[in-house]
Amino acid sequence: MAAEVTDALRARVREELPEVEEIRDPELRDKVVEAWALALAKSSFNAISEIEPSGNPGQNTLKAGVQSDHIRGVTRLAMRIAEEMSALFPDLAVDRDILIAGGLCHDIGKPFEFDPRNRAKWDANPRAAGRPAIRHPAYGVHICLTVGLPEEVAHCAAAHSGEGELLTRSLENTIIHHADYAFWATAHAGDLLVPESVLELKVRH
Ligand SMILES: [Fe+2]
Repeated sequence: MAAEVTDALRARVREELPEVEEIRDPELRDKVVEAWALALAKSSFNAISEIEPSGNPGQNTLKAGVQSDHIRGVTRLAMRIAEEMSALFPDLAVDRDILIAGGLCHDIGKPFEFDPRNRAKWDANPRAAGRPAIRHPAYGVHICLTVGLPEEVAHCAAAHSGEGELLTRSLENTIIHHADYAFWATAHAGDLLVPESVLELKVRH
């Protein structure tokens, strides 16, 4: 486990997630980088690309590509949905910065849930702390709020997935939720997933 957030880790995050430069507010941009660097520093991973490229551990795994391709793909899809809808309906009030930050942070809890050391511990005794103890959406909220990201972004981590069925999603998170599911559904239909890992598409991501 990397003990602390280093400049090298921050630089790696910027390299892996170039869409962060699309965020216009420099403070928000830096906090997204800080959040990913912190999530990695608290895990066994040194890069987003080291995390298994799946929706959930062992489920819907990309045959080729890395986890950062998923994060980027969802963010880019979300940006296009917002752009196309806004072109047709100028009244659509999408906050572009929140959308991009939310897309980049929606799976920011994965370094915790996917960490092989955590998984081995939870598998060994599921009744001790749960299996997993905390899913990536909830752990993602912890990371987002720790670095001072706004609740609008933490909400995208919290409720992009099945947890969002328990509340009303924001406009930006509604777009991210559908972009996320579109990513996996398209990957499935296009034979981009390891066959044994494929789940029914209504599954949580
Ligand atoms: Fe995702």
